[in-house]
Amino acid sequence: MNKHNRRDFLAFMTSSVAAPLVLPGCVSQTGTDHLDLPFTPLNFSAKDDLIMAKGLSYKLLISDGDEISSKDKFGCNNDYTAFIPLKNDEAIMWVNHEYPNPLFISGYTGGTKTKEMVDLERYACGGSLIHIKKMANGWALVKNSSYNRRVSGETKIPMVTPRDIAGSKIAEGTFANCAGGVTPWQTVLTCEENYHSFYGERAREDKPIKASRHQWEKFYNNPPEHYGWVVEVNPKTGESKKLTGLGRCAHECATCIRTNDGRVAVYTGDDKNNEFLYKFISDEKNSLEKGELFVADIPNGKWMSLDIKKNKKLQEAFKDQTDVLIHAREAGKLLGATPLDRPEDIEIHPATGDVFVTLTNNKPAGRYHGKILKITESGKDHGAMSFKASDFKLGGDDFSCPDNMVFDKQGNLWLASDISGGAMGKAPYEKFKNNGLFFIPMVGKHAGTVFQVASAPKDAELTGLTFSEDGETLFVSVQHPGEESKSLDKLTSHWPLGNGQMPKSSVVQITGDLISKGIKA
Ligand code: FEO
Ligand code: CA
Ligand code: CA
Repeated sequence: MNKHNRRDFLAFMTSSVAAPLVLPGCVSQTGTDHLDLPFTPLNFSAKDDLIMAKGLSYKLLISDGDEISSKDKFGCNNDYTAFIPLKNDEAIMWVNHEYPNPLFISGYTGGTKTKEMVDLERYACGGSLIHIKKMANGWALVKNSSYNRRVSGETKIPMVTPRDIAGSKIAEGTFANCAGGVTPWQTVLTCEENYHSFYGERAREDKPIKASRHQWEKFYNNPPEHYGWVVEVNPKTGESKKLTGLGRCAHECATCIRTNDGRVAVYTGDDKNNEFLYKFISDEKNSLEKGELFVADIPNGKWMSLDIKKNKKLQEAFKDQTDVLIHAREAGKLLGATPLDRPEDIEIHPATGDVFVTLTNNKPAGRYHGKILKITESGKDHGAMSFKASDFKLGGDDFSCPDNMVFDKQGNLWLASDISGGAMGKAPYEKFKNNGLFFIPMVGKHAGTVFQVASAPKDAELTGLTFSEDGETLFVSVQHPGEESKSLDKLTSHWPLGNGQMPKSSVVQITGDLISKGIKA
């Protein structure tokens, strides 16, 4: 056990998770019989393949560009997945399509894009709803189901707002859809993260728009203020709305849980260096249209209200509550919110209610490997106005750049890393090789130890970790394999088809005893 492991583990032992008072032994990833686990942990790998720990196996569910109906195709760069059960081993799955890789979409290698290129990208981004069914050999797409549809960069989506935002209450499209959440009433929340890469950004509505990376503003006159929201989608109809009450920023995810009085708390982080963690509390039990937004003061353990009626500083700086929400970053800063190292995914432990937040890294600050922050709300109430924060686990030894997480039914943590494609294999990330999927037991003799259970293809990250309702299958998005390819004849990955083929982001389904039976508690 190295220094960090021991320190993290001791912190873990003092947490509210019940664990036996036995320190885990050193993890040798070569001889593993003594571990008494239903899998053999992996070592870091640089191979262009999706590698599973012995004891786990995977199968493709759907890939970039697959036909889902006579008129629609599955989008690009699949990210977050949500599993909405129907009946008898059937479900609707929502899948985010975060951002385009223009080389794979239109063969673009640089310069000014054509409108045709931008149109292909607008359709490929957003999300897909797919009807899936569990067959004898695993989950499969129900092709041409009436549930199969796209919500894309072209879809007109109303914004829930008391007044026009940049001239309208209707936005054209959703994109930059990173992670998300599921509401207690089984709708899907999809989060618009790096929205500035599509139609640019500006400080105020009357200022010029700064050009974007994807150049969409060259062909469509859509205001940046229509993006950077959390979007609620009805999975049965595709009907969508942008929930402006949750504020506008590079939302990574939107994790929902009931407060003790039956309303809904939604935790969401702004994935940008030195940005903030937010919590929204709904007014009503079954709607997120109205409520109050708070921003975190971590050292003092306080949720600070962003309600303009309650704060003089906000009244002086903003013209109304909608103005506060459009400029949530500015409002949070004004209140003294705590800058964080890129808050990414947020998951809530099913037994303890502790809120786990991945802080992926802050390269300009020299913090390259990130950590997992743990927040314990006062009185174990997600409606509380105070909390205690502590470090659950630091990156740098067993993993780097923690990003997506999920808890399994036993309360063990599954964690995926996201070292960016350009940094992978280079200092200070070289030892970690490709991104991976890690299993951190919260029970049993290995509680607190990090085991690698999957390794991603070249340039890819593993995201969208979601269990099926029966807990037998873990769905994972393999996102952006081959992202660093400079041209179609110099591909850095050929996953999943191999044989010199183009790489394709795909959703896979993972099974094995570790998932269906868990570990010895
Ligand atoms: Fe889309 Fe912050 O990851
Ligand atoms: Ca992420
Ligand atoms: Ca990421």
